[in-house]
Amino acid sequence: MRGIKIVGTGVGLPSQIVTNFDLARRVDTSDEWITDRTGIRERRIAEPGVATSDLCAEAVRAACADASLAPDSLDGLIVATSTTDTLFPSTACWVQRKVGIKGMPAFDVSAGCSGFLYGLELATALITSGTMRRVAVVGGEVMSRVVNWDDRGTCVLFGDGAGAAIVTASDGSSGLLASNCGADGSLAPILYQPAGGSQMPATHETVDAHAHTVHMEGNTVFKHAVVAMSTAAVQAMRDAEVGPEDVTLMVPHQANMRIMEAARERCGIERDKMYSVLHKYGNMSAATIPVALHEARTEGRIKDGDIIVSTAFGTGFTWAASVLRW
Ligand code: ACO
Repeated sequence: MRGIKIVGTGVGLPSQIVTNFDLARRVDTSDEWITDRTGIRERRIAEPGVATSDLCAEAVRAACADASLAPDSLDGLIVATSTTDTLFPSTACWVQRKVGIKGMPAFDVSAGCSGFLYGLELATALITSGTMRRVAVVGGEVMSRVVNWDDRGTCVLFGDGAGAAIVTASDGSSGLLASNCGADGSLAPILYQPAGGSQMPATHETVDAHAHTVHMEGNTVFKHAVVAMSTAAVQAMRDAEVGPEDVTLMVPHQANMRIMEAARERCGIERDKMYSVLHKYGNMSAATIPVALHEARTEGRIKDGDIIVSTAFGTGFTWAASVLRW
């Protein structure tokens, strides 16, 4: 076990709710189709002018307050996101500016929907090596800015939000029992935003072609997600010597209820142990796990000593799983 503890959590969620019925007025879809195929009923959408860093800053402030820590006492700030404020500097630096803190290293992790668990892995390594003592790990996205709102195959899936966790050294009882992270870059073009980077700089043509939005082969993502999320979680549980019956709560990445259910079943974890906020927030990519962890804690579903299994899959492709003793 690597000794860490999550001592505070917080979220930053836009107040604007967009329901499936709202979307059905914009594209050829229905509440029934979206609910049946994904489990999503509504999602939060950021107001114009609200950037990923705004939601992340709110989450960091809330998590620090929850942990009774002053934000300037953090030793590190890691932001997992695919919807960066700017190509440079990092969103983490914008978050520093908005929270009003400086000095500590601040950087982004680009691992799509797996980003929060990648960040947790990094924070654990930095803390257990003695490099840092208190690290904020944030997952935040404004997916609504990279969605083609005329493409019913993608626009119904995503939502905006941020979640943060304050990770510190453990007093001995809690820790990361095991983790399992990986990536397969050969599958990068299956789910990506083609334009805006060095590969395809922005032009009038890229804007006209909607090349700055999410391009995805949904069925391929679905199949890989089920296999990778369950394989990574099963391996991490094996390494942690944790059986399905020992698990208190499964808090997976929340992309599609059918993906989550298939992954849960393959892990052998009972249905009532899976925690979901997907129906009300949609797929917030890197933010889904920290937002779900926060809500589960707030509802009293996570207590000290509980075994929490998380697993995720995203663009890259990337995957990551963790087994935590809270
Ligand atoms: N409303 C109504 N009909 C739709 C919609 C919609 N919003 N979107 C697609 N359809 C239609 C398709 O056009 C197709 O019609 P056709 O049979 O006449 O050709 C039909 O529904 C079935 O389409 P499929 O793509 O086969 O539907 P599927 O059951 O696979 O569901 C979905 C599609 C929801 C995208 C699914 O593949 C999925 O969730 N994939 C994972 C994608 C994902 O989660 N990506 C996020 C990033 S990665 C991550 O977070 C894991």
